Amino acid sequence: MSETTRTQVLIIGAGPAGLMISQMLHNRGVESVAIDIRTREEIENTHRAGILEAKAVRMLEDENVSQRFRTDGYEHDGTDIRVRGISNRISFKDLVGASVWLYPQTDVFIDLANARERDGGDVRFGVSDVELLDGDSDNPGVRFTDAAGTTQEVRADFVVGSDGSRSICRALIPGATQYFREYPFAWFGIMAEAPMSYDELIYASSDRGFALISQRTPTVQRMYLQCNPSDDMHNWSEDQLWDEFQARVAGPDGFELKTGPIFERTLLPFRSFVQQPMQHGRVSLAGDAAHTVPPTGARGLNLALSDARVLAPRLAEAAKANDPAKLADYEEIAVKRVWRAQNFSYWMTTMLHSLPDENPFDRMRRLGELEMVLGHESGRRHLAEAYAGWPNEVDGL
Ligand code: DHB
Repeated sequence: MSETTRTQVLIIGAGPAGLMISQMLHNRGVESVAIDIRTREEIENTHRAGILEAKAVRMLEDENVSQRFRTDGYEHDGTDIRVRGISNRISFKDLVGASVWLYPQTDVFIDLANARERDGGDVRFGVSDVELLDGDSDNPGVRFTDAAGTTQEVRADFVVGSDGSRSICRALIPGATQYFREYPFAWFGIMAEAPMSYDELIYASSDRGFALISQRTPTVQRMYLQCNPSDDMHNWSEDQLWDEFQARVAGPDGFELKTGPIFERTLLPFRSFVQQPMQHGRVSLAGDAAHTVPPTGARGLNLALSDARVLAPRLAEAAKANDPAKLADYEEIAVKRVWRAQNFSYWMTTMLHSLPDENPFDRMRRLGELEMVLGHESGRRHLAEAYAGWPNEVDGL
């Protein structure tokens, strides 16, 4: 058995980028079908980043997704950058009049999936055997096996590739350039049942390596340790992990982490990737499919939602007029922000982590850089502005 569906926009990848685009198209009177090889439960149980710019959470409200972030999220006016145990508070509010929200990617996904269901959206999770069809034609499409085992074909006027860092849609852009870098370290992430240790996030750079103290709820905490990718910490005891976290934040103020049972462990690779162009003919890439950033500074999800903000209104116009020319400036607008975010993520990463072969000169230079940024208002403001979100002019909005 096989079924064929025709729609205006086919969205490959139903994570936050794909579902936000689908929701925004719906709000602008354009139909879409979104597919994903993962089941909804798999995506809901994948723990990803936790920090959203104010601009990104506002999209949840403005696009009629959900206001749940107001009750379940936490607004943070600043963050702490702890260097060798000395705390340096960066006040987003004082420096740039902004705040960020602790509202995990999983919750953003749940809100979007619920909103698409509520609004009658066509989202097919758990599909397999995905084969892209005629990407470079006026009638692009996809063939796949749906969760019930039926062969399906979807044909559309436009395609969005929002299928993440292992994107198959990248191949639909002919002659693209791929920019890529790997880092000689990774993060070992844990989820723990413990009280909050602090009311904001702590980015800790120590001589033992980096640690990030983040949060989820008053009783569940999210933390990361810099580690060697080939020598991860899956076999460490809970005591060993807590001792290492504590050692990386320890300082003369006597700060202590609140500990508890660790119920999840994940290794996160560090990569920077950009594919250009992000758009060709009727195909556009969005989110990790077009660009991946290392996690330091929490740019990934914010960047994906910024892509949606720029792409969806253009795509709605293109779909209504059946005219790919309406997509023309997506690339130009998105790429500027993508490279800014790549630079910020690279900078935060290299400034806060110790390289495995770091010699004493390298370390002292890096500490000099941290002192220069944290010790002056202009440095702190630069960091705050990038972290809390650049002004709309950067997006041509
Ligand atoms: C989280 C992850 C990040 O990479 C970051 O910079 C801040 C927070 C998190 O998972 O909470």
